[in-house]
Amino acid sequence: MNSFEQIKSHYGFTNGDIRNLEQLRPVMEKYASEFVAEFYQFVKNLSEHDKYLKDDTIIRRHQDALRVWFLRLFKGDYDRRYFDELERVGMAHVKINLPAHYVNAAMHFVKGFIHTTIHKEFKDLEECVYFERSADKILDINLDIFTSSYIEEEKKFFLSQRLESYLIQFANRFTYGLNLTLVGGLVMMGLGVMWLFTYDLMHLLDGNIEQGLLRTLGSLLMLWVVIELMETEVKHLKGGKFKVKVFISVALVAVIRKILVTSLKTDAVEAQLSLVAAVAVLGVVYWLIAKVEG
Ligand code: HEM
Repeated sequence: MNSFEQIKSHYGFTNGDIRNLEQLRPVMEKYASEFVAEFYQFVKNLSEHDKYLKDDTIIRRHQDALRVWFLRLFKGDYDRRYFDELERVGMAHVKINLPAHYVNAAMHFVKGFIHTTIHKEFKDLEECVYFERSADKILDINLDIFTSSYIEEEKKFFLSQRLESYLIQFANRFTYGLNLTLVGGLVMMGLGVMWLFTYDLMHLLDGNIEQGLLRTLGSLLMLWVVIELMETEVKHLKGGKFKVKVFISVALVAVIRKILVTSLKTDAVEAQLSLVAAVAVLGVVYWLIAKVEG
């Protein structure tokens, strides 16, 4: 990590900026409460803000800390201690898993608030631009340090960062390979079901119409399921969500096919009843899962 002096010089932060910020201090002190109130109006529009600002105690603590942070922007001493304080704020957000995007968006709001306040209080446009530039620099430095906390957190590793990233890359490729094997298996299954479909059709030609029709219907159902499985797998490979309901439909079709086959035997009434019960249960489960998955 760069030293604070280095960061300041990268942003072209000069003694002129320090003077400008010090000059803004009495103005910003007047607006500190308004700042906290408006910041919270803004935060309330962020979805899931209440996941982080869970209760009144946390909110009150955050509001107090925010006020101190805001006034500290205009204090004039931007030394090692200030740098450490900012790192602590960054880590506080990382610890609660606050998305970095929220901090970026909030900082954008702060920038807007400070600009508006400067324009309210100073009439000379050139002077406003001068103040705004210094305010932008210190806010960008703040955001830089806040963002670094997220990057530092991401850099954590167990043994060796390189080894671990290779391992993760390998695991990713291996999973992709397994998925491709699955697609290959499904293609073979599709071919198998097509063979079964042809075989069942033969029964029709044999003159055994009833058996032929029921068996053909069963194999068509299986073909439909293989198509569904293939579609789901291909969508999954393209980055789509995996649908659990497809697995239930496989079981459902397998049982329905069994019913069709056993219906040919008049003495298998008990077996038929248990299969019908299984279809009913699977049907309800399928309906529930389909409702959730959409
Ligand atoms: C410009 C943006 C922000 C600034 C300057 C800021 C400032 C701070 C400060 C100074 C602290 C206290 C750190 C410490 O313990 O030393 C803090 C903590 C915290 N911040 Fe922020 N914050 C910002 C954005 C947000 C946003 C957008 C959220 C939530 C939606 C948030 C939620 C929190 C929470 C939950 C804590 C911990 C509070 C506690 O338990 O004490 N912050 N923040």
